[in-house]
Amino acid sequence: MSSVSLENVTKVYSNGYEAVNGLDLEIADGEFMVVVGPSGCGKTTVLRMIAGLENITSGTVRFGEEVVNDVAPRDRDVAMVFQSYALYPQMTVAQNIGFALRMRKVPKAEIDRRVRSAAEVLGITPWLDRKPTRLSGGQRQRVAMGRAIVREPSVFLMDEPLSNLDAKLRVQLRAEISRVQSRIGVATIYVTHDQTEAMTLGHRVAVLRDGALQQCDTPQVLYDRPANVFVAGFIGSPSMNLFEAQLSADGRSVKLGSQSIPLSQEVVDRHSALRRFIGQTIVVGIRPEDLPAASDERPGVEFKGDVELVEALGSEILVHFRTDAPVVVPEGTGALIDGEESPVKATPENDCVARIEPRHVVHAGDRFCFTVNPERLEFFELDSGITIWE
Ligand SMILES: Nc1ncnc2c1ncn2[C@@H]1O[C@H](COP(=O)(O)OP(=O)(O)O)[C@@H](O)[C@H]1O
Ligand SMILES: [Mg+2]
Repeated sequence: MSSVSLENVTKVYSNGYEAVNGLDLEIADGEFMVVVGPSGCGKTTVLRMIAGLENITSGTVRFGEEVVNDVAPRDRDVAMVFQSYALYPQMTVAQNIGFALRMRKVPKAEIDRRVRSAAEVLGITPWLDRKPTRLSGGQRQRVAMGRAIVREPSVFLMDEPLSNLDAKLRVQLRAEISRVQSRIGVATIYVTHDQTEAMTLGHRVAVLRDGALQQCDTPQVLYDRPANVFVAGFIGSPSMNLFEAQLSADGRSVKLGSQSIPLSQEVVDRHSALRRFIGQTIVVGIRPEDLPAASDERPGVEFKGDVELVEALGSEILVHFRTDAPVVVPEGTGALIDGEESPVKATPENDCVARIEPRHVVHAGDRFCFTVNPERLEFFELDSGITIWE
């Protein structure tokens, strides 16, 4: 067992492309760390450097106290699970899981014991004598995980292991991965472009963009206190609504298009740095769940929007609407289609989303009245996108 630390790690590929830039990351022994970010942001590169499959241009990777920069992959005691889980079709599940141990000439009784124990952790004991071709995608991915944990590694790496599975299986296996990780209790670094996966699995989540760390914290802190507009837009589904807004000359209200939202003394005090932006354009963020229908009489002020589309989900209604305030779409938070980032957001420009209680009657074309609670607003600098806090 081991902790993992990355100190100022940079990767420049031979073609000059800088895929990872000065990354600092500490993963405690037993911790489940998720690295999340859009396609191409450098996640796989980070994992491959930890595994030793890719050399490090500069910086230091440590397992415990030991610097492993120049340690060969086979001597690092890591196990890795990939998106594709090529199993040997002619071998049984048990033989697939035990393969690496046989290669290492581990005694047969010991292989049997470890294969059985891994199979039990993963709940795949009944299939040990089957061939992988007779298994479903989810079962195969479990076997691939078995192959990794049977080695009893001190560091466990997973690169988008669920992306080839359908949505229902993903949810099921997500819960299993979480359970397995806490049972084997080794430092785990799990890479995904899926923010839901990141939030549900990670003890902590590191958000990466263009090879640079944006924020690393617990899922709740990322959600409640995003460090910048990128994290704000990337974490949470539907995304936080981000508006260009003007802070008034007295610093006591923000104007979103033609609508003004007064800020209480408390809000002004809590975000004392707002003073520096008096009379300027900033970005105001509002989470979809912080826009209840006005008729629900929650604390706050009225905020109106023109309804574009209504999605009734049973437990809630997603109301897509527009206002006359310009919407900010942080670069790189576009929708992922088939795992690839689409250059445009899934929703049209200026589209905002509110989650309201299911019993409301609302139609496309309505002018709908929401409530916005100034206590729940987030403020960001327009140019840098950095959060305006104290
Ligand atoms: N061997 C390579 N040579 C040059 N560029 C590479 C190489 N491998 C990956 N890249 C580039 O580095 C960036 C990060 O890649 P990767 O780590 O695979 O991202 P992710 O896993 O987040 O999708 C991408 O722009 C990719 O095209
Ligand atoms: Mg990748």
